[in-house]
Order: sequence, then structure tokens, then C-alpha cells
Amino acid sequence: MIWKEKYNVGNVLIDNQHKELFYRVTTFVETLRSKTAWDEKVEKVNETLDFMKVYVVNHFHDEEEYQRKVGYPQLNEHCKVHSEMVEYVVAISEQYEKEGCKEELLQQFGGKLLAWLINHVVAEDQKIAEYVRRKEKSI
Ligand SMILES: [Fe+2]
Ligand SMILES: [Fe+2]
Repeated sequence: MIWKEKYNVGNVLIDNQHKELFYRVTTFVETLRSKTAWDEKVEKVNETLDFMKVYVVNHFHDEEEYQRKVGYPQLNEHCKVHSEMVEYVVAISEQYEKEGCKEELLQQFGGKLLAWLINHVVAEDQKIAEYVRRKEKSI
């Protein structure tokens, strides 16, 4: 999935974080699908998991702060979805540490991250931008 300008929510920090996520997830999924040596795939999984563990904490914190700042009415529901994703990243890391790197786990992780871009970043996060646009118009 390629980042498009229309995915911007209008806050530079949040938009840069989303862009970085798009880049990370896309290169991760490409590596999984490629004929790259298994060791390289494992390296990419390590890199992506390490990135995600930090990203979900920092990005969700910043995005929730932004929602609070603009008075986004669906903040609580949105935070709940973020928490579920944090739990998922913790769970997949634990599974990875216990079972090691298995094809099935990689596919599941890649699928989940792609779905996150489509269902969350491009859909749910966009609702914040729509809310801000509506609010600015009504002033
Ligand atoms: Fe986001
Ligand atoms: Fe979000």
C-alpha cells in the first residue's frame, strides 16, 4: 500500500507517523512475499516487531492527545481500538519469543498490519480529520 496525500489528517506529527507506518508495513509485507532468504525475513520480522512495540505506544499517545486537543467526540471508542492493537502487538511478540519464527506467525502478523492500515489509518483516523474540517466550517 502506497501512502497518498489524501490520507493526511492535517497534523504534521501524526501524518509523519502514519507515513512511516505505511513504509514499514509495506516493506515488511514485500519481504514476506519475496523469495528472500529465510534469515533475511527473520531479520525483517525482528526489526518490524521492535518498531511496532515502540510505535504503538508513541503514536497512539500522540494521536489521542491530538484528539483531546480538538475535542474529538469518539475519543473513548478510538482509544479502545488502540488498546486492542497494543494488546495484539504484545501477544504476537510473546508468541514469537515462545515459538520462534514460523511462517504462519509471519503471515498472520503481516495480514494484521495491512488490515490496520486499511481499516484504521485510512478509515478510523480519517474521521478525526473529517471532524476537524466540519468544526472549522461551522465556526
Ligand atoms: Fe493513527
Ligand atoms: Fe488511531
